[in-house]
This record gives sequence, structure tokens and C-alpha cells, in this order.
Amino acid sequence: MKDLDYETLDEDARGILRQNDRGGFTIPTSGLYPFQWNWDSVFAAWGFSTFDLPRAWAEIEALFEGQLPSGMVPHIIFRKDDSDYFPGPGVWGCDLGAFSSSGITQPPVAATFIRKLYEQDPALGRPILETLVPKLYAWHQWFMDWRCSDDGAIFVTHPWESGRDNSPDWDSSMAALEPGDVGPYTRRDTSHVDPSMRPTKAEYDRYLYLVQRGRKLGWDDAAMAEAPEFQVAEPGISFILLRANRDLAALCDAVGRDASDVNAWTARIETGCKTLWNDEIGGYDAVNLLTGARSGALSSVAFLCWYAGMPDARMQAPLTRVLSDVAFPVPSLVPQDARFDSLRYWRGPTWGFVNSMIGLGLAESGLTSEAETLRQRTAEVIRKGGFAEYFDPITGAPAGGDSFTWTAAIWLAWVRAGSEG
Ligand code: GLC
Repeated sequence: MKDLDYETLDEDARGILRQNDRGGFTIPTSGLYPFQWNWDSVFAAWGFSTFDLPRAWAEIEALFEGQLPSGMVPHIIFRKDDSDYFPGPGVWGCDLGAFSSSGITQPPVAATFIRKLYEQDPALGRPILETLVPKLYAWHQWFMDWRCSDDGAIFVTHPWESGRDNSPDWDSSMAALEPGDVGPYTRRDTSHVDPSMRPTKAEYDRYLYLVQRGRKLGWDDAAMAEAPEFQVAEPGISFILLRANRDLAALCDAVGRDASDVNAWTARIETGCKTLWNDEIGGYDAVNLLTGARSGALSSVAFLCWYAGMPDARMQAPLTRVLSDVAFPVPSLVPQDARFDSLRYWRGPTWGFVNSMIGLGLAESGLTSEAETLRQRTAEVIRKGGFAEYFDPITGAPAGGDSFTWTAAIWLAWVRAGSEG
């Protein structure tokens, strides 16, 4: 691995965004992920905003074209089919919106990055914001109606809804599922990427089982909420919605819309996030709401408490540790955990876009030296390995797909912002 220079990487990063642009929306990477993914698309917009703000807004508008009548914004929007991907639109069978889509959502980062776009040029953004705020509001309302536990923590109904597909946070819930015969299927992911870097077959059977269940119920929120088979409250989506709500309130103010509901949601989720603290691990972790079992996993998303506007002094020690335990933090699971696997997706690898959110939160909370360390290490791992999907936190080896949109995007919008290189 050799260190690439900053200017070459800037050019490459812009090239990746352009190359993954499918005409108004951006795919995460060709082959492995050939459609529009929800949070990937928002990071793409953040990246575009560093050199083409109108294109950044177009990305967001395209994402919201996929919004369902319920207010939910799906995790994948299938604008056209592509046999390179499994499970595609025919498997999901969700045709409730303008496009075929998946039937689940993803962490709602949109309000936060829409605010960043808007603040870059309020005059340009204002008319778009007028149309987007009601859509954001409807999506957040949907979360409060269908994904908020009695305690106020936000839960997911499928591992993919968290965006952290094979995290140990789902292990106990996944083990309890009895997928039976999900029928024959051919995975496509393992023909693009080394299988040792991907979820296992047992996990895939269960992912599919939950998709088949939703499909059978017509992706109807009320029907799916009856006798649920998978409900896990988790720090990632909870902290992200908490943060996004605060940003939505600011956006409501910007367009003169009353934000009192949004502020009430914020208070409720903040209470919920506190329930995710686990003394046993000295950090935030996930709870299987069907059994009360804790995952006991300290994952990278626990470090989003600052991003969420919930600075927590108890997280300082784990932060210091995680920044020094591995050469390329933040690992998606701390290396002390027996389930740690430095290359397997969300069970160890470092994801640059997660670092960008952690880093924003640290900087906003005055933890500037930690924020700077994280930014420098992220710069280093990308300079060595390029714009990979994720990285081995110990060796820095690039892993998963390459020419990845969100890694390129955060290079431009976060790593390089304020960089001296
Ligand atoms: C994987 C990731 C998810 C991401 C998607 C496309 O499923 O776990 O977070 O959105 O790939 O990049």
C-alpha cells in the first residue's frame, strides 16, 4: 500500500461520485450495490455539495421521490431492476410508492445533511427546503409512530434497517428466528466480494425470512407490528434520529413552520437513548425488545452520543481506549469483544462515513483533539487503501467493494474540510 497524495485523491473522489451517478441519483458502487440506497445517497449529497451544490440537492430530491404514502423513506429505491443484486424488487414486492422499493427504512441522516446543504447557500436551498420539510416531518412522524419503543428508544425490525447488517447487536434476535425453508436463492454479493468479508448463509436465510414475512403482510405497518418477530432498540438509529430531529426543528424554523411536535419527539427519544446505557459494558448497546436481552456489544455507533447532542462523560474512557487500541479507529465492534472479526463487515471493520458522524459530534462538543485524531487516521487509511467500502481497523487493509460513494463523499466533505494537506 502506498500513500496517495491529497490532490490526486480529491480528483479521484469527485470522479467516483460522478462515475456512480446514474442521472440524478447515486449508487453506492457498481456491481455490489446497483440501486439508490437511503443513507448512502445522503452522504453522496454531502460529497457533491463540496463541488456542485445543485447536484447535491438533486440527490436529496431524488431520494424523497421514493417516499411511501406512510411517510417512510425506503432503504433501497429500485428505479430499474438489475440482476446483479439479490434480493431485488421482485423479492421485496413492495410497490407502495412511485418506485418499487424495499419495505424497510434506514437511519434517517437526511435532515442533518440537508441542513448543511441549506446553510451553504440559503437562497439556493430555500425553495427546495419548503418542499422537503413536510416530507422530512412525515418520515420522522412515521418513526415515532412505528419504530419508537414505549421507553422512547428507536428500534429496527430487520438488521438491514439499522444499516449495520451483521452486527452482533442482532445475534440473539436472529438466533431466535426459525426461518424454515426460505426457498432456493442465489446470493450475488459473494460473487462481487470475498465471502469472508460478508454475512454468513445462516444470516442471509434469516434476512430473507423477514423480507418474506413483510411481503406476506403487504408491508402494512400495523399488520407488521402485530406479533413482531424482530424488534431491536439500538443506539445507532436512536442517536441518528435524535440528532436529525434537532436539525429538523432548525429547518422548520427556517421555513416558518411550528416545530413543537418535533421538539417533543426530541425529548422523548433523548429519554429513550438513556435507556440504552449498559453498565456492564460501560457503553450504549442494543436491546432485544422481545426478550429484554442486551447485546453486550460496544460498537462504533455508541460513539454517536456527541453527534446526538447527548455528550456523556462516561463515554470519554471508552473513546480514549478505542482511539488507541487499533491503528485505524473506530472499529464497528471493539477488539476486546470475542465476536470481533477485523474483516467481516459490521463485526469489526472501520467505516469512514461512521467516523465522519462521530468526528462531527466530537468537534461540536469541544473534543477537538479526539476529533482531529479521528480525521487524521481516516485520512491515513484512505491514503493507503483508497475509497474502499470499509477497512481492517488493525492493518488498514481496504475491504468490501471499491470506488465507494460514501467513502469518497466523506473524504471531500469531512476529511478534507479544514485539512492542511
Ligand atoms: C450494506 C450496508 C448498508 C449500506 C449498503 C449500501 O448493506 O450495511 O449500511 O447502506 O450496504 O452501501
